Amino acid sequence: MGKTHRIGVIPGDGTGPEVVAEGLKILKAVAEKTDAEFDFIQYDFGGERYLRTGEILPDLAIEELGQLDAIYLGAIGHPDVKPAILEKGILLRLRFSLDQYVNLRPVKLYPGVETPLKDKGPEDIDFVVVRENTEGLYTGGGGFLRKGTSDEIAVQESINTRKGVERCLRYAFEYCRKRNKRNKLTLCGKTNVLTYAFDLWERAFHEIGQEYPEIERDYAHVDAICMWMVKNPERFDVIVTDNMFGDIITDLGATIQGGMGIAAGGNINPEGTSMFEPIGGSAPKYTGKNLINPLAAILAGQMMLDHLGEPEAARRVEQAVIDVVEKHMKSMEAGMMGVSTTEVGDLVVKYIQE
Ligand code: IPM
Ligand code: MN
Repeated sequence: MGKTHRIGVIPGDGTGPEVVAEGLKILKAVAEKTDAEFDFIQYDFGGERYLRTGEILPDLAIEELGQLDAIYLGAIGHPDVKPAILEKGILLRLRFSLDQYVNLRPVKLYPGVETPLKDKGPEDIDFVVVRENTEGLYTGGGGFLRKGTSDEIAVQESINTRKGVERCLRYAFEYCRKRNKRNKLTLCGKTNVLTYAFDLWERAFHEIGQEYPEIERDYAHVDAICMWMVKNPERFDVIVTDNMFGDIITDLGATIQGGMGIAAGGNINPEGTSMFEPIGGSAPKYTGKNLINPLAAILAGQMMLDHLGEPEAARRVEQAVIDVVEKHMKSMEAGMMGVSTTEVGDLVVKYIQE
C-alpha cells in the first residue's frame, strides 16, 4: 500500500465546486486502480463564506494548509464581491505565503481537440510555461498621489530579486532537462524596454544556463512570443518568464490548446505545499448548470498526482482524458461539449476503470 496523501480541497466560487467534484471523482477512481491513497480535507473559503462571515482566509488555515501534501483548488471570484478582494485575499495570498514560486502551465493540444490555429496539430502545440509566481508586478510596491485629482499619480512597481529570479530559472532548466523533448529553454522578457528587471533575468539566465550545457538557450521579447505562439508554436519547448508576462501568455496558451476548459496549472513549491487548479475563472454565468468543462480541473488533478510521486496514476488519468476527448466530446467550451459536466467526469472514470 502506498503513502496516504493529505489533500486540502478548496472548491471555491462559481463553477469551482462542480469541477472539483468531478476531479475528486477521478482521484478516487484512480486510487482504486493504483496504490495511491488520499485523505481529503475540505475548506469552504471563497465568496459565499466572505459574504456570510466577513472572513477571507484566516492565518490559522494557511498554517494548516501548509502542513498538507497538496492543495486542490476550484476557482476564486464572486460576482457580488469587488474584484481583487478574493483574488488577492485567497488565491494570491496562498501562492505567496506558501512560497509557491513557480506557476507551471502546460500548453498541450490533445488529439481531437479543436485549436483556433490553422494547420496546427498536437505535434506542434506541446510546450510548458514556467511562470514566476511570487514576485514581479504582483508583489511590487506602489500607491497613489493626489488621488482623484487631475494631478493624480499612480505607481506600480515590479519586484525582481536575485534569489527569486534564480530559483525560478533553475526550476525551468531542471524541468526542461527532465522533460527531455527539445531541450530548449526560451526566456520571455522585454529587454528592449524593461532594462532593469529583464537585465537581471537575462544575466541570471545565461549564468545558470552554463550549468546546463545540453539545454539550448533562447530569448524572445514577450510581444514576439505572442506572435510565435500563434504562427509557430512548435518553436517552443519550455518558456520561462516573470509573473505578469506569464499570466498573459498562458491565457493565449490556453486558447491555442483548446480553451480554458482544458487548461490546468500547478503552483509549485518544490520544498513545501503545492496547489493545483484549473487556470480559468469561476464562470458565474455557467454556475449550477452542469455545463462547464471539468477537464481543466481533472488535468490539474493529474498534475497533482505527478507531483505527489504517483506517475502511474497520473498516466492513467491523462490517457482517460485523451480517450474521452477523442471519442465523446464535440468541443471544450462550456455548453458546447455535447455532454454535461458530470457525464465528462463519469466517462473519464469509465476509461480509468478499463
Ligand atoms: C491566474 C489568474 C490570477 C492571476 C488572478 C485571478 C489573480 O488570472 O491564475 O492566471 O493573475 O494570477
Ligand atoms: Mn491569469
